[in-house]
Amino acid sequence: MVMLLTGGAGYIGSHTALVLLEAGYDVVVYDNLSNSSPESLRRVERLSGRSLTFIEADIRDTARLEQALTEHAVDAVIHFAGLKAVGESTEKPLAYYENNVGGTLSLCQAMRAADVRTLVFSSSATVYAESDEMPLTEAAPTGRPTNPYGSSKLMIEWILQDLYAANPDWSIAILRYFNPAGAHESGEIGEDPNGIPNNLLPYVSQVAVGRLEQLSIYGNDYATPDGTGVRDYIHVMDLAEGHLKAANAIARASGLHLWNLGTGKGYSVLEAVQAFERVSQRPVPYRVVGRRPGDIAQCWADPRKAEAELDWQCSRGIDDIMADAWRWQSHNPQGYRDSER
Ligand code: NAD
Ligand code: WQD
Repeated sequence: MVMLLTGGAGYIGSHTALVLLEAGYDVVVYDNLSNSSPESLRRVERLSGRSLTFIEADIRDTARLEQALTEHAVDAVIHFAGLKAVGESTEKPLAYYENNVGGTLSLCQAMRAADVRTLVFSSSATVYAESDEMPLTEAAPTGRPTNPYGSSKLMIEWILQDLYAANPDWSIAILRYFNPAGAHESGEIGEDPNGIPNNLLPYVSQVAVGRLEQLSIYGNDYATPDGTGVRDYIHVMDLAEGHLKAANAIARASGLHLWNLGTGKGYSVLEAVQAFERVSQRPVPYRVVGRRPGDIAQCWADPRKAEAELDWQCSRGIDDIMADAWRWQSHNPQGYRDSER
């Protein structure tokens, strides 16, 4: 089976490419490298002992996408490509809607033209309405996201639902990720954000490795056990394996499915920092500052639907996430730039 991964050179896409190659799939990565390095793909090839096809192009180029789908006889698409920086999305809403929503429309049009109707989409727990009731099942109401990034994910979900309603021969999986974190256990591939990281784990590991001075913890006055925000951190390899299972499941029959990919456990910022320090044996200096606009107190998944329907389960815990994040960061202090020089 041939899988085309839009955004496959990025953080989650590169780990998924590795899992797919190891499972025997042929992989075509379609990425404009706007937030990634081709070095990730070279390392994926080395780790798997297999080669993949890389196409450097933009998903908004519908003709190029259609050509790629046809030329490589693609069976299914996993759609990771998009912009994902929440803060930046409030400053550049049009760029986010154009890339994420416009890019997805372009992808669906190219798929229709090439007669490829099997699609796995990277959505996010950010589409859920803020709630005091945890864990979140797929039936929990969606909300009005607090930023254009989140809105773009919800808009894409609506587009895919409408597409399926009109074309029930499509097979679509919408995967709502909780908080992806960690790295492949080899330490060879991992998360390599441009500039100052927005997300907790890359920030913590860059403090530990000495690239950043101190972590700012955004608020300790939430209604949570220790006052800091609680999230469901899912190991990126468990997440990658979830994509393999989802792609297999939807290849069998048409349908539209929603699946949460999370662990079902929440950890506070302080618990996450302590776990990182314990596992890495490195101090992570921090100070508590005010809340970050748009943040919520708590968010964790009920993953039972995905577990039952996909025969999938997370096998890695918080200590594995921290150990693997640290192995990646300490082996590659400047990320992929270390080998680009
Ligand atoms: P990433 O930035 O590492 O990967 C995205 C990839 O898409 C990059 O390689 C980038 O170069 C590429 N890309 C962006 N715009 C493109 C375009 N127009 N054409 C072609 N390629 C393009 O991000 P990630 O963390 O791997 O996230 C993958 C997907 O999962 C994204 O859609 C993101 O919104 C979603 N997601 C991520 C998280 C998270 O915390 N990382 C959580 C929920 C959902
Ligand atoms: C986790 C916790 C912060 C950084 C975001 C997006 C979501 C999804 C995943 C992607 C929170 C705290 C963080 C720091 C801190 N996106 N924190 N200091 O906000 O749950 O989700 O990423 O595509 O859509 O909203 O993740 O890692 O930013 O934050 O105290 O420097 O860590 O307040 O409680 P978040 P995060």
